[in-house]
Amino acid sequence: MASITIRRLDEAAKRHLRLRAARHGRSMEDEARIILSSAAAADGALGPSTQQAPPDSVPRPSPLPREDHSAGVREDRSARADSRVLLIVGGGIAAYKSLDLIRRLRERGILVRCILTRAAQEFITALSAGALSGERAYTDLFDPAVELDVGHIRLAREADLIVVAPATADLMAKMAAGSADDLASAVMLARDCRVLLAPAMNPSMWAHPATRRNLATLTDDGVILIGPNAGEMAEAREAGIGRMAEPHEIVAAALTLLASAGRDNALAGRRVVVTSGPTREPIDPVRYIANRSSGKQGHAIAAAAAALGAEVILVSGPATLPDPTGVTTVKVETARDMLAAVTRALPADVAVFAAAVADWRVEEPNANKIKKTQRGPPKLGLIENPDILATVAHMTRGRPRLVIGFAAETERMVEHAKAKLARKGCDWILANDVSADSGVMGGDINTVHLVTAEGVESWPPQSKEEVARALVERIADALVGMRA
Ligand code: CTP
Repeated sequence: MASITIRRLDEAAKRHLRLRAARHGRSMEDEARIILSSAAAADGALGPSTQQAPPDSVPRPSPLPREDHSAGVREDRSARADSRVLLIVGGGIAAYKSLDLIRRLRERGILVRCILTRAAQEFITALSAGALSGERAYTDLFDPAVELDVGHIRLAREADLIVVAPATADLMAKMAAGSADDLASAVMLARDCRVLLAPAMNPSMWAHPATRRNLATLTDDGVILIGPNAGEMAEAREAGIGRMAEPHEIVAAALTLLASAGRDNALAGRRVVVTSGPTREPIDPVRYIANRSSGKQGHAIAAAAAALGAEVILVSGPATLPDPTGVTTVKVETARDMLAAVTRALPADVAVFAAAVADWRVEEPNANKIKKTQRGPPKLGLIENPDILATVAHMTRGRPRLVIGFAAETERMVEHAKAKLARKGCDWILANDVSADSGVMGGDINTVHLVTAEGVESWPPQSKEEVARALVERIADALVGMRA
């Protein structure tokens, strides 16, 4: 039945559905099913009296003025189907993943051109990159055919974003030094668009002072970093930080950058404080109370705010994610440390509280490891932690203009979120379902309901980066209308 419905959709709606499905890595039928079930869930959650647009018609919280939904499915502003990415593939074993990256970018309607360094051609061929991108792959600075056709300057200028994946230590060194002795480095020197770098190398090379120096130069030059991740290396028995970010992570970061192109400065001059990750409350020197939060949503919000030009201070509990580039990250352990770090980071225009703060701590953590005894398990006397969000939202002096919280709920989401909004005194709350089957805790997809004094908006299921992007765009729009 779903397929009959899809066949009957008009072309624009079909295209929109195809893009959404590709973005979420689902079939069109599955995507349609999810849209319908979240529409049904939203209707149920909000009751018949709440005016609610179908989720598919609100893929982004719309900036003012509201859009006319009567025309049916509207274009998804995040898709930017005509965006152009120039993918520079460096010579590392992770180059095979860049083929998947090309496919994923193309599925989102993005035009991809590839440059393969000489070393990259030891791992993949120009033929396979060209076949997947639908355009010849470029390899040689001194190829007369290329210079007569597009030329290295046009290759650089005709891109909305350059992605370097894998970015090897050698490629990073050349970029940092401004060398231009091959096509990839010459193009990097001639570019005027943003660059997203996905480093991949052995952990020792990544940790080497020379690489750290080059990285510092590149980030000073405005290059944006995704990864590297921690994990096993291609070489046997080697593990650590150095694995290239996964293609889906690179795509999400690229989409964030492409979508913010033209809005690069929407948060320029604004200071944003974000909390992220879990907190750890000690029981004794080796044990603690914590939760399953990964920090993905908070870190994505910090990165998205920085992409719009904000000065961002990310106060993060123990998370295994890399620090987002362009963001000052302050690492803390306990709820009380987090409150102190947030207080130090103020004043700010906006504060977003995405951390999963432990509600309770052990009143008197043991100085030594608690031993098993004949008397059985110890009794842990718990006391309540300070509520960081409520503390900041109730500040009488120096309160950020916009204080935003999350509501992690496992039932009656919107109802609980509305109560939290009132109780904590914040301006907006993003309610999300954190029950075990939602996969939100630690997962990549989030389905949120934005609860404000004006009402409730249900956003469709989307990646945490997309939620972050939608939120920071919404923040930028809201600040325009607010008094300083
Ligand atoms: N929060 C906070 N400090 C705390 C507890 C929560 O800043 N000590 C913030 C979270 O970062 C989030 C919001 O408050 O933005 C709601 O957190 P949540 O865990 O959903 O609610 P709780 O206040 O812990 O209430 P409950 O556990 O009863 O749902």
